[in-house]
Amino acid sequence: MKIGIIGSGTMGIGIAQVAATSGCDVFLYDTNSAQTEKSLLILKNTLHRLVEKQKISAEKSEEVFNKIKPCNDLQDFATCDLVIEAIVENKEIKTKVFQNLEEIVSENCVISSNTSSISITSLSSELKNPERFIGIHFFNPAPLMPLVEIIPGLLTKVNLADEIFSLIKSWGKTPVIAKDVPGFIVNRIARPFYGEALRIAEEHIATPEQIDDAMRTLGNFKMGPFELMDLIGIDVNFSVTKTVYQDYFYDPKYKPSLLQQRMSEAKLLGRKTGKGFYDYAENAQNPVA
Ligand code: NAI
Repeated sequence: MKIGIIGSGTMGIGIAQVAATSGCDVFLYDTNSAQTEKSLLILKNTLHRLVEKQKISAEKSEEVFNKIKPCNDLQDFATCDLVIEAIVENKEIKTKVFQNLEEIVSENCVISSNTSSISITSLSSELKNPERFIGIHFFNPAPLMPLVEIIPGLLTKVNLADEIFSLIKSWGKTPVIAKDVPGFIVNRIARPFYGEALRIAEEHIATPEQIDDAMRTLGNFKMGPFELMDLIGIDVNFSVTKTVYQDYFYDPKYKPSLLQQRMSEAKLLGRKTGKGFYDYAENAQNPVA
């Protein structure tokens, strides 16, 4: 099976690894080829560590890596059976990419988005054939997180969600079919979680470090909300919050945070830029915010 992945950032490279591990041929495209090179290097190191830990064989590691072909042109996606888009969380930019893609892929190719929050129905309605469009939402880090939300829009053809459900299950994941509502299941639950944590920090009730510590040690969470936002990307998290807030008709429950906005503007985006709520430089004094 041939899978095209658009966007080679945090999610794109992770999804590429999952698909390649399951034996798919993966085409990976990003407008920023330096990002693709960087992500492939990180993947090489990840696979190397898996071999060292004896989780996979050296042959398997090489096979997975060689199954991923970096592309400089979307035209290379012409023979793909499924395309998964994982680019910036922006409806207009995603729509342009899908309209371009529609002219390249065959009629039978399924087009999907890894969007965290944008309406699948609204993305599909901009296409000539909205029936073949669906949401496939992986979680970060994609190779480790079992859950994948499958989101059919109002215009998606009837059996497509079940077909994608079976495919994603065959990739070793635990898919769940979710309705096309803002934030789907997990991001709807997660919005007030991050939102309250940000408000507690903004009101100086506790610092990000104290809040994370409380959630980890007392709440038994693997990571606190600020560590998680740094992992996800402050910009990505902020975009998702804005979309969910707007799409629920400005329900104050989902109101975005000014702190998150300023940090996005300052490019303090978390791990991917080396600094977010925490500083990831070697000799850093934490926390930043
Ligand atoms: P990222 O910022 O790490 O990577 C996005 C990549 O898309 C960049 O490499 C960028 O160069 C590329 N790009 C931007 N415009 C493009 C275009 N027109 N054509 C081709 N490539 C383009 O973003 P990340 O975190 O991987 O997020 C991608 C998508 O996945 C977003 O929709 C996000 O909401 C969703 N998502 C993110 C999660 C996270 O924890 N970061 C979790 C689940 C979903």
